[in-house]
Amino acid sequence: MEFKTIIEPFKIKMVEPIKMTTPEERKQFLSGAHYNPFFLKSEEVMIDFLTDSGTSAMSSNQWAGIMQGDESYAGAKSWQRMESAVRDLTHFEFIFPTHQGRAAERILYGYLGGEGKTFISNTHFDTTRANIEFSKSEAIDIPAAAVANSNLVQSFKGNMDLDKLEALIKEKGAKNIGGVILTVTNNSGGGQPVSMSNARGVSLICKKYNVLFFLDCCRVAENSYFIKHFEKGFENHTYKQIAREMFMLTDGAIMSAKKDALVNMGGFLALKNKELAYACKNLLIITEGFTTYGGLSGRDMEAIAIGLDEVFDPGYLHYRIRSTAYLGEKLHKMGVPLIMPIGGHAVYIDAKALYSQIPINNYPGQALVCELYLTGGIRSVEIGSVMFGKYDENKKLIPAPMELVRLAIPRRVYTQSHIEYVIEVFEKILENKKLVKGYNIIEEPLFLRHFTAKFAPAQ
Ligand code: F0G
Repeated sequence: MEFKTIIEPFKIKMVEPIKMTTPEERKQFLSGAHYNPFFLKSEEVMIDFLTDSGTSAMSSNQWAGIMQGDESYAGAKSWQRMESAVRDLTHFEFIFPTHQGRAAERILYGYLGGEGKTFISNTHFDTTRANIEFSKSEAIDIPAAAVANSNLVQSFKGNMDLDKLEALIKEKGAKNIGGVILTVTNNSGGGQPVSMSNARGVSLICKKYNVLFFLDCCRVAENSYFIKHFEKGFENHTYKQIAREMFMLTDGAIMSAKKDALVNMGGFLALKNKELAYACKNLLIITEGFTTYGGLSGRDMEAIAIGLDEVFDPGYLHYRIRSTAYLGEKLHKMGVPLIMPIGGHAVYIDAKALYSQIPINNYPGQALVCELYLTGGIRSVEIGSVMFGKYDENKKLIPAPMELVRLAIPRRVYTQSHIEYVIEVFEKILENKKLVKGYNIIEEPLFLRHFTAKFAPAQ
């Protein structure tokens, strides 16, 4: 590359104003939101890094496609376009549209699950785990060992531990395994990529024991970027060829199209096996809709078909991965502790290392989430003991393994100057880090407490 600056590979045709807020206003908004940014109104946020899901900016082509949406109940042209885009990528014969990823999860894992079944993943995303556990099955995470060490710099830290996979299948008995799920990239494991050789290893083991192997492929294009640039033997492949090769190793895939299909809503389930597809089709019709729209409108399906193609554009993927890394590498250089190397869609800050003075039961991750908002109007999410902490029988907190804060970057939404601003906000965060105190939870629900828990500043 001749130039260092990664210019955004798009021009801006339509803008959505950001309301500027003052520190005084943000103080009021945050206390009104009980120190939980999920309760903030979006207009109270200046830079929204809560999620990369459903927050992409669509292209002029996608918006043009929306006008062509065919809203017929059955056999819509838009469905034919979406189906052929998904088949071209995944090669699977049976493809079902769903309104988002978790609907596909509910159908597939609801059908394959049930009491006595085990699912195994590099790391189950929380809705994946919830759908599996809701069916009364167990969900076991076996990330490759390197993930636990956030300072270790090496590629493909999203991999699955192959020795553990084989041992678990033997221990539980192959017939009791509902499925093996490889999540690419590994969202809950720090957004880290999975290598093709790891996927091949998983596939071989699943074939040996006749166990079903699925890809949770919502960030498969981003994962393909890492394979092309960091795994030997893929230098001359296109990103799409790499993704196709990974799908070929599996028995099916689930996608939340809200990520790498560059749309605001949608998903699909794609399967190889006819009997399994038949069973899922019935569930789809009962709970989502007819097979040619699932939970989607025709215009959504048009946008997905176009987005699935756009996302593999080399200019786009280079900008996407390098701009996420730009933020992460700058923060790393400044001394912000974070998970290295930087993953595809997000930067994960190690809040326990940043705020070593805050006890875990005062939630250092939540403290950073609040500081980022108060200092710069940036919304992020805690992925630590607020999200995953449990209580023992004496109501003592059993903490999560890590206290992380995720800055998830929406696709094609923010420019480099927004990112420069975020970096400046972090300068302030570092300056004030010794002064920050934690939070107590004052009200919480029984499940998924991070969404609705209320907090108060610790004294
Ligand atoms: N699988 C993975 C790996 C995900 O990251 C998500 C969603 C889903 C499945 C569920 O898809 O939201 O369309 O039902 N992740 C979002 C996030 C919510 O913020 O990481 P969905």
